[in-house]
Order: sequence, then C-alpha cells, then structure tokens
Amino acid sequence: MAKSLNNLVSVAPMLDWTDKHCRYLHRLISPDTLLYTEMVTAPAILRGDTDKYIGYNQQEHPVVLQLGGSDVDELSRCCEVAETYGYDAVNLNVGCPSDRVQKGRFGACLMKEPELVADCVRQMQQSVNIPITVKCRIGVDDKDKFEDLAEFIDKVSASGIKTIIIHARKAWLKGLSPKQNRSVPPLKYDYVYKAKEFFPDIEIVINGGINSVEEAKQHLMHVDGVMLGRAIWNSPWLLFNLQNELFETKVSCTRDQVLEKYIEYCQSQIEKGVKLHWLIPPILGLFHGLPGNNKWKSHLVINAPKRTSDISVFAEARGFINI
Ligand SMILES: Cc1cc2nc3c(=O)[nH]c(=O)nc-3n(C[C@H](O)[C@H](O)[C@H](O)COP(=O)(O)O)c2cc1C
Repeated sequence: MAKSLNNLVSVAPMLDWTDKHCRYLHRLISPDTLLYTEMVTAPAILRGDTDKYIGYNQQEHPVVLQLGGSDVDELSRCCEVAETYGYDAVNLNVGCPSDRVQKGRFGACLMKEPELVADCVRQMQQSVNIPITVKCRIGVDDKDKFEDLAEFIDKVSASGIKTIIIHARKAWLKGLSPKQNRSVPPLKYDYVYKAKEFFPDIEIVINGGINSVEEAKQHLMHVDGVMLGRAIWNSPWLLFNLQNELFETKVSCTRDQVLEKYIEYCQSQIEKGVKLHWLIPPILGLFHGLPGNNKWKSHLVINAPKRTSDISVFAEARGFINI
C-alpha cells in the first residue's frame, strides 16, 4: 500500500526552472509544500547519467519525480529507480504539448489514449510502494468538452489512481508553442470543480493561473489541492504566505534569512563544481514587489556569469533592496 502524500499545495514541475537548486530554495521557505522535479524522460533515466537527471538534495523532501513517457516497461523501471533514489512519489506527464514530446507519443497527446495511461499507471503502481499520480490538461484539440475530460478520468481511474492534477486549460497539439499553450487556451476552472464532483473519491489538484493565497483558498473550496507554477517562480516568497495560511506549521523566517541560507548552499554547490550563474535564476524573484527589485535582479544577471565574480555578488545585489 503506497504511503500518502500531502497534495494541498504544490509547486508545478517546470522544465529548466524547478531544478534541484530551485527546489532547495523553495524548501527553505516552506516546509510543507510539495515540490516537483522538471519532467525527465524515461529513456534519459534508463540510458543516461541517472544522477545528473534525477539527483537531488535530501532537504527537498517531500519531492515528486515527474516522468515523460508511455512505454509501460520503461516507466515501471523508472519508478523502481525513483523509489531507490528516495522520491516520495512519481507523476506521469500527460500535459506537455511540445512537438518533441508528441513525437515520442507522450505528454498531452496521451489525453487521447486514456487506456494506455491507465495501463502505464497500473504497472507503475505495481512496481513500487510510492504513489503514482498523473498531471493532465482538461482536454486537447476538439476533445475539449467536460464529457471528454470525464471519460478520460473514468478510464484512467480503472488503474486505481488516487490523485490527478489538472491544468485547467486545454492544449492545442498543433499550431501553438508550449509557451502559448500555457496562456492562449482559456482557463476553465469549472471543469476541474465538476471533475471533483463526478469523481469524489479521487484527489483532484487544480493548476493554472493561480496567483495568490486568496485564489488558492477559493479553489480549495472545490478541490483537494492547488498547484502553482509561474507565480512561485516570479515570487518565491508567496510560498511563505501559502505555508502560513494553509498549513498547520507556521514559519517566521525573513527573506534575508532565506537568502543567507541559500548563499551557504550556493557556496557548497560551487565547491562541488557548479557554476555560480546556474544558481542565480531561482532567487531572482525573492524580493519581488520591493523597492530596488529591478536593480537586485540586473546586478545578479549581469555579474554572476563573469569569471571574476564570486559569491559576494549576492551581498552586492542585496544592497539595492531598500528594506
Ligand atoms: C518554463 C515552464 C516549464 C514547464 N515545464 C513543465 C514540465 O516539465 N512538466 C509539466 O507537467 N508542466 C510543465 N509546465 C507547466 C506547468 O507545470 C503548469 O502546468 C503551467 O505553468 C500552469 O500553471 P501556472 O499558471 O501556475 O504557471 C511548465 C511551465 C513553464 C512556465
């Protein structure tokens, strides 16, 4: 029996963004938010440098590995690897519409193959003791009615799946870039709410366009969890408010304390050979909305890649923030 996970609040998987450094930062701010890796394809894990793709810091728990794939055996083997690595759950990507992903027959195009998704989930569940979840869209192309979403969930639920994360907009498989597919199709939160009504035994997490604690609270009146992506990237401090408003454990750290701990982390990463400028992107939004924020950001972006720069760029940049 898989142990359960707290899906109340999570940070969305975001390719090139939610890497292990980003997750480390998020965990410094919120102890309870569920964190996700970027999508990693099954072949990358099985044939590549596994540590490079799915290595992480122990402090990140609870952390979910998101997989891209549709080969049942490969996915099951990846789940075994994930369990050995100590991941708390595995999530299957059924939402990415990129051409590359479609060519590999995974991501959002799997919304048209619910039986295959159910087979994958069933086998994945059988291979490990950690939860297997799915992140999907409300639909794709002309399969965009609520009935299509209900049929998808109904068929996938035959696998015994307990949790589904739904990005509340459909994806167009042709004609839009992945970025456009995250903003052009309209958000239809009512589909996700209705999915919860139709499938009360499945834990439903809503995703897409959630920007504040108030919005999160509104959604939680209808569904079991909220997943935020770009809002957290733009302003990681939002995690502090989500933690204090939605979880029992209250935190009292300041942005400066978080920065100090992140600098210590960066120092240890640099000693392991990580380049300073790779560590910068997750923290650019820490002072979002405060006076001096633009100068803080530009100082880091311009100076961190310079060969002469060292960890002191953080303190220099901090000097521009007026709090
Ligand atoms: C830069 C970027 C990369 C993304 N990469 C992934 C990914 O690897 N896997 C995935 O399921 N979704 C990915 N997404 C989609 C997000 O997980 C999320 O569904 C989407 O951004 C909507 O949520 P938001 O409005 O809160 O950002 C990505 C989004 C962004 C902005």
